[in-house]
Amino acid sequence: MCGIVGYTGPKEAYPIIIKGLKRLEYRGYDSTGVALLNHGLKVYKKKGRVADLEHEIMGKDLHANIGIGHTRWATHGEPSDKNAHPHTSASGKLAMIHNGIIENYALIKKDLVSKGYRFTSETDTEVLLNFIEDIRTKNKCDLEEATRIALKRITGAYCILLIDEDDPETIIAARKGSPLVIGVGKGEHFLGSDASPMLEYTKEVVYVNDYELAIVKPDQLILKNLGNEKITPYVTKLDMDLAAIEKGGYEHFMLKEIFEQPSTILDCLRGRLDAGKGTITMSGVDDNIQHFRDAQRIIMVACGTSWHAALLAEYLFEELCRIPVEVEYASEFRYRNPIINKGDIIIAISQSGETADTLVAIEKAKEQGAIIFGVVNVVGSSIARISDGGAYTHAGPEIGVASTKAFTGQLAVLMMMALKIGKEKGTLSEKRYTELILELDAIPEKVQALLKSAEKVKAIAEKYQHAGDALYLGRGFNFPIALEGALKLKEISYIHAEGYPAAEMKHGPIALVTEQLPVVFVATKDSYYEKIISNIQEIKARKGKVIAVITEGDEIIPTLADDVFYIPPADEVIAPMLSVIPMQLLSYYVGIAKGVDVDKPRNLAKSVTVE
Ligand code: F6R
Repeated sequence: MCGIVGYTGPKEAYPIIIKGLKRLEYRGYDSTGVALLNHGLKVYKKKGRVADLEHEIMGKDLHANIGIGHTRWATHGEPSDKNAHPHTSASGKLAMIHNGIIENYALIKKDLVSKGYRFTSETDTEVLLNFIEDIRTKNKCDLEEATRIALKRITGAYCILLIDEDDPETIIAARKGSPLVIGVGKGEHFLGSDASPMLEYTKEVVYVNDYELAIVKPDQLILKNLGNEKITPYVTKLDMDLAAIEKGGYEHFMLKEIFEQPSTILDCLRGRLDAGKGTITMSGVDDNIQHFRDAQRIIMVACGTSWHAALLAEYLFEELCRIPVEVEYASEFRYRNPIINKGDIIIAISQSGETADTLVAIEKAKEQGAIIFGVVNVVGSSIARISDGGAYTHAGPEIGVASTKAFTGQLAVLMMMALKIGKEKGTLSEKRYTELILELDAIPEKVQALLKSAEKVKAIAEKYQHAGDALYLGRGFNFPIALEGALKLKEISYIHAEGYPAAEMKHGPIALVTEQLPVVFVATKDSYYEKIISNIQEIKARKGKVIAVITEGDEIIPTLADDVFYIPPADEVIAPMLSVIPMQLLSYYVGIAKGVDVDKPRNLAKSVTVE
């Protein structure tokens, strides 16, 4: 959460920073600010979106060749002009932006206040900045040294960019727990929370690691650890183009990303699944195949939508590989004292690869000897880098705050893994393996066909836009999809929604059913089909409104339900990759009907780098 951008070089810094901030707005959009250095420090900041700031400062002197910018997801202090970053130090010479949380800021603040420091904001960032300034003054050292000393004395997470009026070419940057990418150009450098702000200028990037500090000048990049030892920057080539982060004619990123799924799933399967030969090639799994074969237990760790992918993976791995699986919320797992046995495999699932809870959970498990396998979308992200092995989902940049294409990418990877491991272990017959490979291979085309009925989903969404609550029910492989449908509706339309296993209804939630309550059933043709028909009847008997996702050719449920969405026939193991699509479209269109900014729903941010 929070997006940071920096530039130092011969170009005008402001347009690069503003454009970069717009690309990083998915990380938070409570306030925006920029600091520019040109014969003195100029700071412009404001509550609200990047476009609000841009509009307000139009016409001002924004000329500078060095600057930093920030888009905020509030942690300490409400969204306001004064809490917006950049913050300036007491002397007015330093400006800093920060993504993360300084946990021991209160103690440091108390000490600084006793020394006469006054604070203009409620943020932990202003405290860290003045702490650095105080050390610089007291120790009579340079800014780099003062920053290093301060960072060794704080606890928490940070990515900071710092500029100094007296050194108008240099940005000091450091990270622990929050991402930082440095783009290397010709006589210029770009800094960002991800690579999107620098895409049109350079493809050469350095991913800064935790506890590293960078001294960035137009023609020089020095990387050091907090012990002041130099580290050779490892330059990698970006495999991403500009079109991938633009809307490409769609009204919203979320819609674009929903419609991209036939190709993102194909990209995920490509080079791995060969239906003709009946093979699945995944180097991360191959390298660890003995561990998977011997594993007594797999623990899946994730948050949010990725947690729903993990839950589905539990069903898959147990069914196809006969390996016991536990699914954990990363935020709970990291604070428990989990029992990790030798040979346990932790599969960490994350779109961003930066989710703080997931990252810390796997760091802890790794310390206890677990093997970490990452299923991650963002290449080079922190979770990808600390994993012992892994498989990228190759869904491309996901910018809409609600996860859509990353989820189906996760399911594709997890399905291939389960098939491959099941075959290796002999828990899956040759016949079943071949059937499922063919089914998986056909998914991109089926998703394509399914998306043709988007307009129908839109009409149904408009009908239910005024609902106050909704229930989502599913059984078996479709239960995680019911949970995902409910989460999507909550975040995109602000309608209260809950997901349950359909049979749990009668243990409490059925009390909620009235004529006004929409109940969404994921009721495709599978081994639970007869049972879920009974559950639908239970709702209809109480006059609830039933919306059902069903399989083409179903003649029974359309006679019971108020509205239906059809998906093409598919094996029950694979069908969730299809049944989730109408859920995504439903929440999108309800959100649109209600006038919600679906790409940036309130209070949310895409990459949750604070715990
Ligand atoms: C929901 C959503 C979030 C994320 C969660 C984990 O649409 O996007 O629930 O799934 O914050 O994020 P990652 O997958 O980046 O670890």
